[in-house]
Amino acid sequence: MLLDDALAGLELVRRSQGAIVDVGSGGGTPGIPLAASLPEREVTLLEAERRKTEFLERWTVELPNLRVVWGRAESQATDRYKVAVAKALAQPPVAAEWCLPLVEEGGGVVLWVGPSADEDAVALVARKIAGELEESPPGFLVIRKTGRTPPGFPRRPGVAKKRPLA
Ligand SMILES: C[S@@+](CC[C@H](N)C(=O)[O-])C[C@H]1O[C@@H](n2cnc3c(N)ncnc32)[C@H](O)[C@@H]1O
Repeated sequence: MLLDDALAGLELVRRSQGAIVDVGSGGGTPGIPLAASLPEREVTLLEAERRKTEFLERWTVELPNLRVVWGRAESQATDRYKVAVAKALAQPPVAAEWCLPLVEEGGGVVLWVGPSADEDAVALVARKIAGELEESPPGFLVIRKTGRTPPGFPRRPGVAKKRPLA
């Protein structure tokens, strides 16, 4: 079930070639199933909690295209990956704000979302960070990165949640 859910986004991720980052990977969803399905793509599992990264590291033995980074999305280098994916990371507008700076121009963000996700809020956030919300299938919000990350982003750790952009 968890595996099906993770792989439901596979075709959306495939639309862009290049490195993938799973932001707030937790126990490894959706990053590990994506890495197993796309062995030619580098997949980074980015996770803020040290203890969780120790568990995730074990998977790098089986999946040579997988790497694990311990840290917060807001503290990473910007414009580095082609695709950022996130599932259950935060409210979608906050997840969008954390993911978009990580992605280079022409790349995309794929958010796994529930039915009550506020699309208008995500579209507003996207426009502030050189992004554009695209037509997305149910259960997903897909954002295209249309330029470089603008100055001022990412905001400092914690700010996106405390003072959401939308
Ligand atoms: C609810 S879990 C979801 C985990 C997994 N994606 C899933 O769907 O099962 C959210 C994870 O995001 C991590 N996280 C929260 N804020 C983060 C941030 N700013 N940067 C990186 N990871 C973060 C948390 O430590 C937690 O492991």
